[in-house]
Amino acid sequence: MEKLEMIYEGKAKQIYRTDDENLVIIHYKDDATAGNGEKRGTIENKGVLNNKISNMIYRYLMKHGIQTHLVEELNDRDSLCTKVDIVPLEVIVRNLVAGSAAARYKMEEGTKVLTPIMEICWKDDNLGDPLINDYHAIAFGLATREELDEIYAQTLKINDLMLKMWDEMGIQLVDFKIEFGRTKEGQILLADEISPDTCRLWDKHTGEKLDKDRFRRDMGNVEEAYKEIFSRLEKKED
Ligand code: C5P
Repeated sequence: MEKLEMIYEGKAKQIYRTDDENLVIIHYKDDATAGNGEKRGTIENKGVLNNKISNMIYRYLMKHGIQTHLVEELNDRDSLCTKVDIVPLEVIVRNLVAGSAAARYKMEEGTKVLTPIMEICWKDDNLGDPLINDYHAIAFGLATREELDEIYAQTLKINDLMLKMWDEMGIQLVDFKIEFGRTKEGQILLADEISPDTCRLWDKHTGEKLDKDRFRRDMGNVEEAYKEIFSRLEKKED
């Protein structure tokens, strides 16, 4: 598979064209941003760790019937994926209140909720990814009713599978963000990454944060936390 020119560069990843029009190569960088790009830095080896972490999670989800863009891990930082048009929505699931929800509803971080909460945000950097609802998504042409139904059904299944997977590794899945893409044929696939950049992961016993909040909140030991997540996933895969 030949890596051709870069077609997109985001905050944490680059996307390259390949000699197959249906496939792209995703390259993971060490760059980290928070607060919609206001805070910038690098986390050593983050690209390598997130590439491998995301692929391990995707392999687990695929084994349990979730369709994703992942085709093959090519090397430490590159993965071959199905080319999709990203649906411009950030789909967030909250199993506990934390982060922006704790601030919005003036609740303690870690507050329990009766059922998982699903939110959608309009993926638009200039607007700061505002929280919207289904009416906005449909009215603004971001997704159709049918696509939203499919996205919500897949998201709930992904949450159930991930709650179990992380729990078996001694980790509480507090919340996470996922994105979906449309293939050329119009099929909806889980795309982008799932990693400590996009999830809140707390050690079940100590409550220690093992995710990007360590970077966002200047808590230190960021790389160590990502490595801890990687090594627990690696043990699980064996
Ligand atoms: O900041 P907030 O509490 O809304 O984040 C909810 C979840 O979504 C967190 O796990 C966070 O890491 C993730 N997220 C993300 N990318 C964003 C916004 C949130 O991965 N742009």
